[in-house]
Amino acid sequence: MSSTNQIPAPTESSPSLGAAESLRIKQLEEQVAALRNSVICAFNQLLDLKDLNTGVHSTRLAEWGMRVGQELGLEEADLQNLEVAALLHDIGKVGIPDSILRKPEHLDAEEYALMKKHCEYGWAVLRMLPGFERAALDILHHHESFDGKGYPAGLKGTEIPIVSRIVCVIDAFDAMVSSRPYRRGLPFREAVRRLNEASGTQFDSVVVRSFLSFAEAEISTVFAAAGTSVSSAL
Ligand SMILES: [Fe+2]
Repeated sequence: MSSTNQIPAPTESSPSLGAAESLRIKQLEEQVAALRNSVICAFNQLLDLKDLNTGVHSTRLAEWGMRVGQELGLEEADLQNLEVAALLHDIGKVGIPDSILRKPEHLDAEEYALMKKHCEYGWAVLRMLPGFERAALDILHHHESFDGKGYPAGLKGTEIPIVSRIVCVIDAFDAMVSSRPYRRGLPFREAVRRLNEASGTQFDSVVVRSFLSFAEAEISTVFAAAGTSVSSAL
């Protein structure tokens, strides 16, 4: 925002004009940031109402995502989009019928096709919000596969936005280690094995390596957050 606003240089007749403008711009930036946070919180509450936030799921994803993003050297703007995408990547599921979302058995082809629509639904909602356009695109592509076999666009490799590639890995890992009413979460080592197995095919190997570099080093923390005891995981 500041880069697109021209701040008039102070002149002899108005020595404090530059400072006043600068202060006003700073206030506007703070207002925009506060509004942005309010929107994120409001959508998070919507996910809670629909029971789509499983405990600390989204917060955990945002924390992991930011660590990967920082380690990979993402710029500040990308990190902000990453935070939004990690928190709200499944917002489109509010448009999916509960009979599909809560179905414990495998989805049939028609149900699965509808479930996959959540990426586009999320994009369609978030892109309406000024400042969220980029994060909306990142959300649209969070189920793309590195080998091009994902959805909705079948993008391949670095065609997939880096933020989407990060969300894809941490979301998959989180889903593997988390318990559901109808199944227990996988042990940490098994989840790591599956992540490594799909590294370079489903997942970006650079992202997998970055994530595991701290996930493995902080196994206790990860499992405390995932609600699985370390002893049972090892
Ligand atoms: Fe998703």
